[in-house]
Amino acid sequence: MYFCIRMENLNFIASQLIKWYKKNQRDLPWRNIQDPYKIWVSEIILQQTRVVQGLEYYNRFTGRFPDVKSLAEADEQEVLKYWQGLGYYSRARNLHFAAKTIMNEYNGEFPKDYNKVLKLKGIGGYTAAAITSFAWDMPYPVVDGNVFRFLSRLFAVDEPIDTGKGKKDFTKLAGGLMDKSHAGLFNQAIMEFGALQCIPASPDCSACPFEIVCLAHAWHSIAHYPVKSHKTKTKDLYFYYFHIHDSDSLYINRRSEKGIWQNLFEFPLIESEEPLDFEQLSRTAQFREWFQGENTDFKLIIENRKHVLSHRVLYASFYEVALEKLPETPDKFTKIKSGEIDNYPVHRLMQYYLEEKLNT
Ligand code: ADE
Repeated sequence: MYFCIRMENLNFIASQLIKWYKKNQRDLPWRNIQDPYKIWVSEIILQQTRVVQGLEYYNRFTGRFPDVKSLAEADEQEVLKYWQGLGYYSRARNLHFAAKTIMNEYNGEFPKDYNKVLKLKGIGGYTAAAITSFAWDMPYPVVDGNVFRFLSRLFAVDEPIDTGKGKKDFTKLAGGLMDKSHAGLFNQAIMEFGALQCIPASPDCSACPFEIVCLAHAWHSIAHYPVKSHKTKTKDLYFYYFHIHDSDSLYINRRSEKGIWQNLFEFPLIESEEPLDFEQLSRTAQFREWFQGENTDFKLIIENRKHVLSHRVLYASFYEVALEKLPETPDKFTKIKSGEIDNYPVHRLMQYYLEEKLNT
């Protein structure tokens, strides 16, 4: 038996969500607090990773930077170190930058105004809604992947979720369902419901309070939702790293260019839009400049390690180049003691290589 939801019964959804949440919610440290700073940090971390892994990062990060002031005053390199392994380091840089803005423009007090929050670097509509609703019960709907999935199934929405129009429509829908007098609770509940009950594959619909009103369930089309347009194109890039070292030192570079991994450290790198075999690699201008026809041994340690980013797919290879004595090359690379590499923030691919090396 299936019941159609009538407009005047939309309250039913909010009240069922909140009822379900009170019974099933996970006990997480960023819940039941009103501190906008900690909520902000948790949301940015959770954009990066799952709750279980995020917990550890959250506890470490807020342990070291417990408030806006301590974060604003920290050195960027240290902030990145606390972010290491999460990826998308621009998020950590933006957190740091926005903390300084709050110190300078708002006397260190988190602005209690949606539009001001939205203006902070790295904070988009979703995060601004999460912060203002969780901290102060402001009635801004949060729409994350979990909410998209739940709403698209409940109402069988065929509008793709990855377009401007789709995002707008779903935000309006969520706003219409919201219990405005308990905005924070409602937002937490709808997200948690999507995360735990209305899960991507094989949800247990028999345990769902919306089983009898869910359109996707009625039409046996749970797996069809949410619909995506798949318009975002990805581009392949090939990275060739060189771990050039002698018995106690190695070379690293700081990635100075804008874009992925800005300011993180890595081995000397040759980037290419095409895959290169060693012969092709050795003909590149950079390779010739660095190795100048020396009779050096290149040991391929890792080949085409795939790393997927939102708009790029990277394939990274690592060559080890062991030399008798590393020349001083102050303008090209930074020479550091091999044992000190752990003091530098490195990205996921570097971390992977270093871990592989340590284990061999
Ligand atoms: N994912 C994003 N935000 C979250 C939150 N506040 N709690 C649990 N999972 C989340």
